[in-house]
Amino acid sequence: VPENQPYRTSYHFQPPQNWMNDPNGPMYYKGVYHLFYQHNPNAATFGDGIVWGHSVSYDLINWIHLNNAIEPSESYDIISCWSGSATILLDGKPIIMYTGIDHNRHQVQNLAMPKNLSDPFLREWVKHTHNPVITPTDEVAEVDNFRDPSTAWHGKDGKWRIIIGAQKGDEGRTILYQSEDFVNWKLDPIPFYATDNTGVCECPDFYPVSINGTNGVDTSVESLSVRHVAKVGYLRMAHDYYFVGKYLSDEERFIADAKFTGTCLDLRYDYGKFYASKSFFDYAKNRRILWGWVNESDSERDDIQKGWAGVQSIPRQVWLDNKSMNRLVQWPIEEVENLRSKNMSINGEKLVGGSILEVSGITASQADIEVLFELPELEDNAESLDLSGVDPQLLCSNAARSGIIGPFGLLALASKDLREHTAISFRVYKTSNKYVGLMCSDQSRSSLRSDLDKTTYGTFFDVDSNLRTISLRSLIDHSIIESFGEGGRVCISSRVYPSLATASDAHLYVFNNGTTSVIISKLNAWCIKEAEIGHLKNMSYKT
Ligand code: FRU
Repeated sequence: VPENQPYRTSYHFQPPQNWMNDPNGPMYYKGVYHLFYQHNPNAATFGDGIVWGHSVSYDLINWIHLNNAIEPSESYDIISCWSGSATILLDGKPIIMYTGIDHNRHQVQNLAMPKNLSDPFLREWVKHTHNPVITPTDEVAEVDNFRDPSTAWHGKDGKWRIIIGAQKGDEGRTILYQSEDFVNWKLDPIPFYATDNTGVCECPDFYPVSINGTNGVDTSVESLSVRHVAKVGYLRMAHDYYFVGKYLSDEERFIADAKFTGTCLDLRYDYGKFYASKSFFDYAKNRRILWGWVNESDSERDDIQKGWAGVQSIPRQVWLDNKSMNRLVQWPIEEVENLRSKNMSINGEKLVGGSILEVSGITASQADIEVLFELPELEDNAESLDLSGVDPQLLCSNAARSGIIGPFGLLALASKDLREHTAISFRVYKTSNKYVGLMCSDQSRSSLRSDLDKTTYGTFFDVDSNLRTISLRSLIDHSIIESFGEGGRVCISSRVYPSLATASDAHLYVFNNGTTSVIISKLNAWCIKEAEIGHLKNMSYKT
């Protein structure tokens, strides 16, 4: 790995070098968090020979790298070991199901178990003698589009259930299998969840969320106090979509509140970059945690030069929005706050139209910012917008410059002369029956460098006209910005590669490009310390 690394993250998870994609089999087992991940140990690019990298942690922030947990070795996974999930069995033992790319390049499902349960880090994994335990069946899936088994849940009838991502024709599907012993699996020929014209469905996730409060529940819980979430990734769109709905376990069906439309109305975990995500239930703190892969926006040539590609998001706690009951809220896990150091705050400051204010005194390349904006009177000021056929992402690329209420927000990873900056902004509109906010993350001026994907991201959300506030939290880490609008109801993550605004030359500003004033009712910005992510021999851990 070359010396000069302005884009390597300081508190987002990365392997020591080379390619990483999906988070795999995250779990909490006997005091230790495990993260496995799709990894090419030989190159900074994707290829054959993908393995399961493995790291462990006591707090989900500082990580110890271990040897690869699963590598190609048998005819059923000789080309690659692709994504999968971990399940804690009834006897308390963990088991992994993953997709093997076999010698025919067919996708088959395999099991792996810890070799030695008394090793606190579960360093070694052994493959089951009955592998492959599931092979694709023509009637439900194409042989090369049948992958990424979910964490299993245990039904009242004593059977385990998993879903597998697949494609048949142009239909994206998740296929359900049942088993009594986790080794012999029976196909349910009716897809668990399917959508036309999407192409393959990847990395499905299925879990309950409590209808009260922010606590998570174990994956097998079925009761009147939970709703269910099905998440699917569509490779064609490169987005993770989620559906809240009702799990009818007797009929083995999931009824989503809303159908997939292929428009901006579909719910996504993140309206920027965030894919192949996976959640797990954290028994230690009774919460559900979500990880997602955030890929690069630079070129493959850049990745080869950097010697690495891909980061994981900060783990996010996820729960059902108790206001709407039909969407999720995500928030960076509280442990990230342990890395906060120097703080700077602003209270009750008016930001008049056209103004900009530097948030100085913090390391802006490695920071955590929380801000609450107070809006002007909406009735008289909000601009009218006809929502029909409007694509918020397109609106963000045109409407980021000036309006009435907004755009206002943060300029992150900005150079002193502002030639480089990433604007995370809000603008408020009036529609026929409500007020909506537009949240944008505009990468178009993030770098003077070319050959970068600088697509602008955006999404709508409802603005509460009684509250008249909008909140934003942004986690900035050298080449990634993760932004959580409205307390985590709308999230946008982006990757940027400034040429000037790196390290101590990065600045942070609050701006208002609207014509009306907004008030910074409260702003807190913290420097974030570097997390310890490395090999045990180099770390301060005493185990
Ligand atoms: C999603 C994905 C999965 C597959 C893995 C291969 O990003 O394509 O469907 O298992 O990556 O690395």
